[in-house]
Amino acid sequence: MRRKLAAGNWKMNGTASSLAEVQALVSLHCAPSVDILICPPATLIAQAAGLCANSPIMIGAQDCHAAASGAHTGDISAPMLADTGAGAVILGHSERRENHNETSDLVAQKAVAAHAAGLIAVVCLGESLAQREGAQTLDVIAEQLAASLPDGTTGANTVIAYEPIWAIGTGLTPSLAQIGEVHDFIRSRLSERFGVQAAEDFRLLYGGSVKPENAAEIFATSNVDGALVGGASLKSEDFSPIIRALEA
Ligand code: 13P
Repeated sequence: MRRKLAAGNWKMNGTASSLAEVQALVSLHCAPSVDILICPPATLIAQAAGLCANSPIMIGAQDCHAAASGAHTGDISAPMLADTGAGAVILGHSERRENHNETSDLVAQKAVAAHAAGLIAVVCLGESLAQREGAQTLDVIAEQLAASLPDGTTGANTVIAYEPIWAIGTGLTPSLAQIGEVHDFIRSRLSERFGVQAAEDFRLLYGGSVKPENAAEIFATSNVDGALVGGASLKSEDFSPIIRALEA
């Protein structure tokens, strides 16, 4: 049985004072029945991981370089993230694909690096509004899924996050039928590539304007094993009810 996962992506938000939100979640969720992951900016990983050291909450990163070390000014490698206390890393978020021209091929290389460092890769996929309106969603997801996952990917070392670009930070969400269609499709493609049994191990997260108000219905949707939450993960008073909805 897959263990559900509530993941928060703080993006480029948060300074030392924001660690109070991590502390609050540690206090509120001592023995959760789902996995909880918080991905603060890299500057806060060490301190956040320290706060979560005796808690079930995992701290993750938002990106890594594909190489383990070298002349890459400003970049951070997967072994460095693991060394600083991260247990997971988000890869291929649409903001990285768009703002940093990241291709699915590069995402796959980063996933190899993450796996080698013992990190869970949270690989993001999602269509643009134009692609959705052009009925290309499943084609886009198929292409991104195939190219972003390296051989050696398993449900233990990788989580898939479906995040329609047009739903991120907009307050818009796909219909539950649309979310279910894509999640069912991802599961079937994973089955084709890795086998039916292995495909069952993958957690499939939905991301894009998840809030306390819509979390329960999204979590009741076919093949949705949790959420990757942006804005509503920044405050424990918003993220905590989303975690509770997943536990229900
Ligand atoms: P929002 O929840 O703010 O829409 O962001 C979703 C997201 O991009 C998480 O990675």
